Amino acid sequence: MLSNLKLAPKFTLFLSIVFIIGIIISGVTLSQLTQRRAEADVAYKSRILMQMTDSIRNYTSDQVSPLLTPKLETEKEFLPQTIPTYSAREVFEAIRQKPEYKNYLYKDAVLNPSNPRDLANEFERELVEKFRNESNLEEIDDFTTIEGEKLFYSARPIIIKDQTCLRCHSTPEVAPKSLLKTYGSENGFNWSLNEILGVQIIYVPSQEVFQIARQLSGFAIGIFIAIFAIVILLINFLLKRTVIQPIRPMARLAQKISTDELSADKTTEPDLENLGKVAGNSDELGQLARIFQQMADAIYARNQNFTQQLEELSIKSEEMNIRSSAKTSKIAYFKALQKKAKAIRDRLTEATDIKSS
Ligand code: HEC
Repeated sequence: MLSNLKLAPKFTLFLSIVFIIGIIISGVTLSQLTQRRAEADVAYKSRILMQMTDSIRNYTSDQVSPLLTPKLETEKEFLPQTIPTYSAREVFEAIRQKPEYKNYLYKDAVLNPSNPRDLANEFERELVEKFRNESNLEEIDDFTTIEGEKLFYSARPIIIKDQTCLRCHSTPEVAPKSLLKTYGSENGFNWSLNEILGVQIIYVPSQEVFQIARQLSGFAIGIFIAIFAIVILLINFLLKRTVIQPIRPMARLAQKISTDELSADKTTEPDLENLGKVAGNSDELGQLARIFQQMADAIYARNQNFTQQLEELSIKSEEMNIRSSAKTSKIAYFKALQKKAKAIRDRLTEATDIKSS
């Protein structure tokens, strides 16, 4: 089937196959790369935010808590500003006020929290279970879909390692009065040391990042396709111009030579004229065209020589005809003469015979 195709469609077909395979491979690779890049981008954002919240927590426990702790006994209402979780969450809520960050979320998700807004949801409870089941697991970084939105999350287990924490999280009896007044005596107690109580989790929206990545790879693939299409068109054009068009008069000329259909006059042969244009090129086809020209010249010269020889031959043969006819007439004359002589001789002998007898 391929051998039936002409040169230009054959090239187009092969190039298209190569380009389609190329586009598929580069498209898949590119989208994988941009996807990975997007994942890394989201993970990086999450790491920075996690670091930021850790720093807020440290600042609160190192600098704010010591100042406010004495007031916990004297104040009626509990001062949550002394709690690292509270300050981290509050700062994060402030960030979330900006529309572009509204889907970012930081949470100390605990199964039995003092503040109900920290209550772990089903997804977070599953993560707590995971951490409880795999004791050496330190962090889970992954993607999840919440309310139709794809989010990246990074979770770490919350474990109480410090005895001082238990003042407010063991039993209501030992907790400050202000705490009981503000949070009640129901929640946030009975925590024990070294127990995984919940997860410190950060959610980073990734939809937009992935959308940008998809747009980018789509754009790049679009450019690839455009370049490939231009290359195919260009190669086709060049092939026609530099190979197919110059070959045509040569092929026709070769055909005419083989079937002896060259026009009698060299100057009126159209393909020879077309060949003249190609012969001007310095490339391989120009060289071939010049060889064809020489060949055609040789054929014309030979033809001319041949006709000339033929003409000479016919003249000679005519001359020979004339000469031979003159010769034959001479022979006939001699023969007639001989005849006559013989007759005379015969008659003479007859006469002498008669005399002698
Ligand atoms: C003075 C009392 C007090 C002490 C000491 C204390 N906490 Fe808390 N903790 C609280 C209160 C009150 C909250 C709720 C704050 C809020 O409104 O977000 C809380 C919240 C938390 C939360 C978030 C979940 C929740 O219950 O809302 C975690 C986790 C936590 N504390 C861990 C600790 C750890 C770890 C320590 C020890 C380093 C500690 N706490 C020491 C009072 C205390």
